Amino acid sequence: MPIIAPSILAADFLHLSDACKIVNESSADWFHLDVMDGRFVPSISYGMSIIKQLKKEGKKYFDVHLMILEPEKFAAEFKNSGADGLTVHLEACPNLHRNIQQIKSLGMKAGVAINPHSPVPLLQDIIRDIDLVNVMSVNPGFGGQTFIPHSIQKIKELKNLILASGSLAKIEVDGGVSLENAKEILNAGADVLVAGHTVFASPDPKETIRKLKNM
Ligand code: DX5
Ligand code: ZN
Repeated sequence: MPIIAPSILAADFLHLSDACKIVNESSADWFHLDVMDGRFVPSISYGMSIIKQLKKEGKKYFDVHLMILEPEKFAAEFKNSGADGLTVHLEACPNLHRNIQQIKSLGMKAGVAINPHSPVPLLQDIIRDIDLVNVMSVNPGFGGQTFIPHSIQKIKELKNLILASGSLAKIEVDGGVSLENAKEILNAGADVLVAGHTVFASPDPKETIRKLKNM
């Protein structure tokens, strides 16, 4: 069964405690938390103070996706705010190996996200060191965008790289995941489905999560 990670970015920010309750009571496995800095991506979302508040109510794994430059400046603060896993962008990290070592030494799972234009082979020399690859299936910065079909090809290629290298990294797919395309994404090799709009804009989020979980 896939890991389901609802993205809080799509929740009603005036009622975040309701969103926590939905995820807690559903068959979802993780909270997906999108941090944007207005520099690496063209929008600003929320930061560690919100994550710290959410952690008081959110009872599941906190999967924090950093769409920021210089994540090394904030890794310890995210750990202290309740992050269980921290994912940084390949495109934002000229010293990616160092970022990964830092995240692991702080006691978190380490992930690397790749934008739609970044080729999978760029992960070849880091894949054995990481716990997760986030394959961005939209350009990062906003929720509610349309899934880029070429991502399917990248997931398959990444699955092969992981199998060939003996890496234990999970494949997470992020952006435009829907009830219509989830099956194809899983068949391509994904382990984790992030879903924002699909979950929180649906009439019954818990039921939508159940459907994704049972794909
Ligand atoms: C996009 C974020 C995603 C976003 C997904 O930059 O990384 O996690 O919340 O939202 P949906 O599922 O609505 O595309
Ligand atoms: Zn994300």
